[in-house]
Amino acid sequence: MRAIDIIEKKRDGYELTAEEIDFFIQGYTRGDIPDYQAAAWLMAVYLRGMSERETRDLTLAMARSGDILDLSDVAPVVADKHSSGGIGDKVTLVVAPVVAACGVPVGKMTGRGLGFTGGTVDKLESIPGFRTDLSPQEFKAQLARIGIVITGQSENLAPADRKLYALRDVTGTVSSLPLIVSSIMSKKLAGGATAILLDVKVGSGAFMKTVEEASRLAEAMVRLGRELGRRVSALVSDMNQPLGWAVGNALEVQEAINALHEEGPPDLREHCLVVAAEMLALAGRVADSSEGVELAAQAIADGRAWRKFRALVAAQGGDVRFVDEPDRLPCAPITEPIPAPTDGYLQKVDAAQIGMAVVDLGGGREKKGDPIDHSVGVIVHYKVGDRVQKGTPLCTIYASDRVRLEQARDRLLKAHTIGPEPVPPLPLFYKKIPHQ
Ligand code: URA
Repeated sequence: MRAIDIIEKKRDGYELTAEEIDFFIQGYTRGDIPDYQAAAWLMAVYLRGMSERETRDLTLAMARSGDILDLSDVAPVVADKHSSGGIGDKVTLVVAPVVAACGVPVGKMTGRGLGFTGGTVDKLESIPGFRTDLSPQEFKAQLARIGIVITGQSENLAPADRKLYALRDVTGTVSSLPLIVSSIMSKKLAGGATAILLDVKVGSGAFMKTVEEASRLAEAMVRLGRELGRRVSALVSDMNQPLGWAVGNALEVQEAINALHEEGPPDLREHCLVVAAEMLALAGRVADSSEGVELAAQAIADGRAWRKFRALVAAQGGDVRFVDEPDRLPCAPITEPIPAPTDGYLQKVDAAQIGMAVVDLGGGREKKGDPIDHSVGVIVHYKVGDRVQKGTPLCTIYASDRVRLEQARDRLLKAHTIGPEPVPPLPLFYKKIPHQ
């Protein structure tokens, strides 16, 4: 078999066999197939697409490029969730302890932020000492011991995706349905969870810009999950404005802690209850999602979810004093409100620009490996549909220096559209794609 023949076959619109896909993926992962051939192949896939069968074989080949965790000796059902990425998305920090407190083990490998989106690993690293580099053995041992683990992706988890994703990023081949499906699902497969809830975001702060696009992606992943023997369901949720109020690593940890104490933004709480309920239903812990919402709300109300979060922090080396008293978390030296420039209604938000403002402040990275400042970020004070009063704070900026603050201020002002016409509030969810 030769890489060139596989590239030409896809270029000409033919279906690749499982063997050809596996040959290409394992060859590329080992370094036998160079980046320039992989780039040509990615573009051929981007332009020609893949059948469902090819997408499944690609996912399997990518999952098999590294270790596949078997968690069956830890628990019969292990839950996980995956967000396709957004602004202010601290849902994992709330939902994982809630679900674990309800008796369903949660084992999650997760990523760092890239571009305008935040990442759970970065958020957790705001807590001094918190380790996000657990080995697969540590992952399993902690899952068995306390029923919850959230760590970074281990080096050898779907390494094909690590290489391919970096190449897609610079070859204009990110937004391809089979490539996204296989990227996400190969990592989920390798992570070992058996009940997986996908939170597919849509809107100005998401990768998918229309509900139709997001639904197609979600449906393809749910179908693939079923074929691969995992219980997978998906929610298509709004990302046309930040989720909650806080955007930025330590600020988001603080907001998640508040949510675990029944405080904080109502949209975040409602979103988390729905996601947790879906996970509990998928795992067979409850009969349906309304029972799941009740159980999840109870776990928050009686403090079990909070205690689970605290146990997670302690187990992974985090200093619990910083979560017991979140005011001790990293805090930027400059705090400045941006007054609303006019009266009216908040009609629209460019959520990606809010994410970029946090990157401007140093809270995100433009390229992999850049250092970040956990203390900076933005608190938004209005939601779409709210009546805005001129001069009241539209957002509050947490910055480490004035130059960055000014840059972020411009972006934040441009990101908000205030007009005289009232608009309805945005929904939290558009669609649910149930487990099939
Ligand atoms: N998230 C992933 O992990 N992979 C993609 O291709 C897109 C979003």
